[in-house]
Amino acid sequence: MAAHERRFDPHHRELLLDPARWAKWDPPRLLATLDLHPGESVVDLGCGPGFWTFPLAEIVGPEGVVWALDVSPEMLEALAARHPPRQVRPLRSELPHIDLPDASVDAVWGAFVVHEVEPLDALMREIHRVLRPGGRVGLLDWRPDAVSEEGPPRSHRVAPEVVRQALEAAGFHILPTGWQHEDAYLIQALRPSP
Ligand SMILES: C[S@@+](CC[C@H](N)C(=O)[O-])C[C@H]1O[C@@H](n2cnc3c(N)ncnc32)[C@H](O)[C@@H]1O
Repeated sequence: MAAHERRFDPHHRELLLDPARWAKWDPPRLLATLDLHPGESVVDLGCGPGFWTFPLAEIVGPEGVVWALDVSPEMLEALAARHPPRQVRPLRSELPHIDLPDASVDAVWGAFVVHEVEPLDALMREIHRVLRPGGRVGLLDWRPDAVSEEGPPRSHRVAPEVVRQALEAAGFHILPTGWQHEDAYLIQALRPSP
């Protein structure tokens, strides 16, 4: 199946803003593991209507930047309709390509998007390219063996070992996260400094 057939249908974008998701994923707590600071820059890969974009904007503050990247114009319109703060910069880009310069961001966040993108190795190389040396990436996605029946079909999901291998092959160093969930995995990695 082609990657675009696995894309989240923008007609259902309201589901991504369901308060139950907030209770389930607790974005401030999860994003704290990224070790982002005020004034830094971060890319929100596959931002959708901005579930993670707003809490990321809160962390980096008005002096920081959140590149809110999505391929879907409907998703970016839905984000704009929520009036994000000025540090949020919408960016239409089709992953694996990231339309940003080399070593230009401090961190990359991608929630529930990796399983919708191909090829995985090209995505990890692009994340590595746009991150500054010493920058971090955090990827959250559905476990193929999740307990809950929510989420994309199990056949669309990517096993965490596969994501880790692709990150390592792109030159990342995998970091411990100390976070576990019966439905999702979180993988964090560092672009080592030379
Ligand atoms: C399941 S939604 C998750 C949205 C958001 N990260 C969240 O957790 O609320 C996946 C998002 O990735 C976007 N997406 C899928 N494939 C993409 C691609 N190749 N390039 C950019 N965005 C993509 C979709 O348009 C959608 O907004």
